[in-house]
Formats: sequence, C-alpha cells, structure tokens
Amino acid sequence: MCGIVGYVGDKQAVGVLIEGLRRLEYRGYDSAGIAVPDGAEGLCVVKRQGKLADLEAAPELAGLVGTTGIGHTRWATHGVPSERNSHPHLDAAGRVAVVHNGIIENFHDLRAELESEGIEFRSDTDSEVIAQLIGLELAGVPGADLAEAVSSVCRKLEGAFAIAVVASDSPGRIVGARRHAPLVTGVTETGTILASDIPALISETREIIVVEDDELVDLRAGSLVVSDIEGRERVPDTVHVDWDVAAAERSGFEDFMLKEIHEQPRVIGDTLRGRIDTVTGSLRLDELRTSDDELRSANKVFVVACGTSFHAGLVAKYAIEHWVRVPVEIDIASEFRYRDPVLDARTLVIGVSQSGETADTIAACRYASQLGAKVVAVTNVVGSSLAREADAVVYTHAGPEIGVAATKTFTCQIAALLVLSLYLGQTRGSLYPSEVRGVLEQMRRLPEQVAEVLDDVDPIRAEAGRWARVHDAFYLGRGPAYSTALEGALKMKEISYLHAEAYPSGELKHGPLALIVEGVPVISVVTAGHVQKKTISNVAEVAARGGRIVLVANAGTDMGGLLPDTVFEVPETHELLAPIVDSVVLQLLAYHVAKQRGCDVDRPRNLAKTVTVE
Ligand code: M6R
Repeated sequence: MCGIVGYVGDKQAVGVLIEGLRRLEYRGYDSAGIAVPDGAEGLCVVKRQGKLADLEAAPELAGLVGTTGIGHTRWATHGVPSERNSHPHLDAAGRVAVVHNGIIENFHDLRAELESEGIEFRSDTDSEVIAQLIGLELAGVPGADLAEAVSSVCRKLEGAFAIAVVASDSPGRIVGARRHAPLVTGVTETGTILASDIPALISETREIIVVEDDELVDLRAGSLVVSDIEGRERVPDTVHVDWDVAAAERSGFEDFMLKEIHEQPRVIGDTLRGRIDTVTGSLRLDELRTSDDELRSANKVFVVACGTSFHAGLVAKYAIEHWVRVPVEIDIASEFRYRDPVLDARTLVIGVSQSGETADTIAACRYASQLGAKVVAVTNVVGSSLAREADAVVYTHAGPEIGVAATKTFTCQIAALLVLSLYLGQTRGSLYPSEVRGVLEQMRRLPEQVAEVLDDVDPIRAEAGRWARVHDAFYLGRGPAYSTALEGALKMKEISYLHAEAYPSGELKHGPLALIVEGVPVISVVTAGHVQKKTISNVAEVAARGGRIVLVANAGTDMGGLLPDTVFEVPETHELLAPIVDSVVLQLLAYHVAKQRGCDVDRPRNLAKTVTVE
C-alpha cells in the first residue's frame, strides 16, 4: 500500500504535493519522492529513502517552481526500501515519470521482454515497467498522446494499480488510471488534483470524484476528463466529503483497527495476487530464493514466531503436515532460541513476523541459520531485518498496520503461509496439480467470503451488548480452528482487558472445565472440518455446566441437539482456509466489546506495535 498524489494548476506543485503526501503517510513511510516537469530542465525528480520529513528537508525542492507534479510515499512490496526503488520511476529516456500504488502481477514477463529489447532497468520494483512501457509508446511517435499511451499500457498490465503519469513532452498535464486500487480526483480553486485516498485532497477540495476500475483521468489546470480505457468519456458525479483530516485517514472509520479489519478482503486478495499462474493454475513464489532441491531435501520444518504471528504459524503446521507430509514443530520464538532445538542443514525454519523486527523471532532465525538450517521469512515489511537475514522471503502485502492489535496482517499471514505450504506440496510432489488447483480455487473466494462476514455485523454487535458483566471468556477449537480460538482470545484480552483463554476443545475436561459456571461465555469455532462433530460434543459438555454457548458455524450445521445462545454464521471453506474467514468474526467481537467498555482499541495499554527487545 503506497500513497500517490498529483496536482496541476496555478500554485507551485511542491507545496501541494508535500501537503498531500503528509496526509497519506499512514499508507507508507519507507521512502518518498516527487517529479515536477520543468520546461527547461525536463523532469525534475527528488527522492529520499526514509520518512517524508527527509524529502521535505531536501535542498533540491527549493528550486522546483513548476505548477504540475506527482508525488509518492512508499510501502515497499517489490524491492527493498531505498532511493533507487523509490518512486517516481522514469522511462529510459527520462521523459516520463510514474508513481504507482498496487502490484503488477506480470511484471517479470514484461520486464524480461523489455530487457530483451535492450532496456536497462534502474530499480527492482514492479512499477518501473509502467514507466518504461509508456516511454516506449511515446518514443519516436510525433504527436503521440500521453492518455492514449497510458491506456495502451494499462491493457498490458495484470494486477492492481493506481498510477499518475507526467511527461516532459506533455506540460501542464497528468494522466491517472486505476484497476483494483483506489484513485480519487477533484477540481480545486486553483487547478485539479488526484490521489490514492481522500485525505490528500481535502485541504484542496471536498468535492471528490471516485475513479472506477479501468478508467483514466486526464488532468489539466482548467479541466478534468474521466474516460474508460477505450477513451469513452464519462460525466462524473462528485461526492461531498465532510470528514476532518483524522477521520479521512481512517477512511471514515472510527478507529484504525476497524478500518484495518475492513481492509481484509482487499489485502488478502493482494497477498494471493501474482502467486497463482493464471495459465497453468499452479503456484509461483517469486521471492523464494532457495532452490527447489533444497526444499525437496528438507526432512523437518520448524515454525517460530510470537503472539499473533505464532497463531498464524500454527495453521502452517496443520497445512504442511497434511499437504506435504513432513513433520512440523512450532515454537514461540523466545522459547525456541533458548531450548537447544535439534535442527541441521535439512531443516527448514519458517520465521513469521508482521514487522520483521521482533527481537526474539530474529534471534531464533539467526540461531537456526548458525546451525545450518534454511530460513524462510514470512513478513509484511520489505527490507525488514528478518527479510534481509533470511534465505528466502514470502511477503504478506497487507500494507501498513497502524492499530497495535494485529488483524489484517494475521489473515494475510495465514494466506501467505498456505501458499507456501501448497508450494512445498507442489515442489515435493506430495500434492497432485489438481489438488493444488482445487485449494487455489477456494482461496480465490476468500476475499468475497471475508466481505460477507464484514457485512453481517449486527449479530456480533448484539452479542457484544451482552458482555457488560463478563469477566472471563473461553475460546475453543480443534485443528486449524484452535488457531482461530487462540487469536480470538488474544484479541479480546489485549483490547478489552477481559480475561480470555483459548483451549483445544478436547483439552477442556482435563482442567479448564472447572471454570465453567452459569453464564460464562464460551466461544467455539465449529465450522466444517473432520473434527467438527467432536468439537460440538465438547461444547455440549460446556452447555451442561451452564456456560453461554456462542458458536462460529456454517449455515445448516447439524448441532446434534445442542441449543446455542448465539450463532455467528460464516461462509464455508476448506478447513485449513477457514481461520481466515472465522477469525474476522472474533476480531469484530473483540472490537465491539472493547468499544462498549470504552477502551482505546488502537493503542491498548502496556503494548507496543513492534517488540524490538527480548
Ligand atoms: O511483528 P510481529 O508479528 O513479529 O509481532 C509479534 C507480536 O508482538 C504481535 O503479533 C502481537 O502479538 C500482536 N500485535 C497482537 O495483536
């Protein structure tokens, strides 16, 4: 997730761009840059790795007096955070500059094609292909039109993009386009403006035009034209936005946590994007730098992580053992690093960390490397310490997460880990291609299934309303659903400060059942799976002790005579994929209970987003 902004009008562009980027910093903050066409100088580009403040401090900005420009604040997806990978990217001739938010799925093929024609790339990003392609469309074609060139290139791109393009041959003009990534635009008192998100616009205008998929916008100082990719113009409607800036950064949601919960359909899609070969239906993991032989020779897998990432890792254990038939151990990173684990060169260690900076997870992976194991990092932050030190990386593409409580990064971690597990199965031949395709088919439906859960929030809010006197709650699940239960309980305790514990449901009668008294809520995940009936009979034991039975279940589940107090119905999927769908209900339950208790869900007490000390 990155932020893009573009302005053309009477004011000096730099000021408007910096102000817009400041409002978009929550979308990315590892580097920033701007491009301003200047008649005499061509395109002037200033970029800095680091925060926007580093760009603002650049002395070169002072000389930029142009009134057209584009800007970008980056959250790296392809290529580490660095000046070379920062946007805007230029074509080979330095006449076209592009800022991009999204992921270009076919950039490897496009780049290979361009390189075979002798074009030299100057970055490791997927975005640079866009600039190079537009440059080629314009090169040597007298009178070539920028909007036509952009439209022609958009037809070649697969994946998600919102772009803004300027060219030295088209002064006073910006062309924008989008597909599966947000882009908004508007007319201001002094010109026209576009951005990836509303906060960047509202200091200039509150009348917003939402650009649709496969549409282009052509911005000049006195005009704004919206058309489809074929060039057919549309008369756009404007929407009046009266959010203040802080609310706009949260897209109108009350908190970042709620916003991030609602981003899940999109970011789960982003995490899966580009990993599935659309022609063969098989998997592609571009960032995996280990050889297939190394993956084939592994005879043991360890998963190491902390907190929420550990819960996601648990799903990988179930998935790898089931699909790959290799023994998997999972450990809390702070335990693993001090417990003398047995591993060698044939061990594959998967380190899972949203931030990629968690001290214990990094130390655990370092220790594994010293013992000769191959380390694969699953992380959300490109170029993080874990990503840099690992032998291979699978990124989660969830975008920055501001809320301390992990939500979208959890479901994206599971999605990435499932892709990795399938890849291992595919590479080692433990899965038939048809089996891989079958699971991928179900994975493709996950964004829409999660969206269905988000649309059905009333029963969750109603249940939260019954928790005014609750002090303790218990969460049950078996198999992958145990991961959902663990994460549900963690969300509840960290943001609502209620005591919440999760158990594998079969473990209940070995002790915790003593805590079940009249009215204690017991949230059980009983979605479809081979142990569903067993969990339901464990829930019956709770019901017999007077516990309040709250179920996460699929419609039409045979409850075997059990009479639950509340059922949250969720769409059915493969049991290894179900934690992605089911945990969204528990995120929302924790959120609404916490809000009713007046808690600050974005900044829970005593907790930090990234734990860089052991
Ligand atoms: O950045 P990491 O995934 O390594 O962080 C590990 C934990 O600190 C983290 O998952 C934590 O448990 C969550 N923020 C809780 O919501």
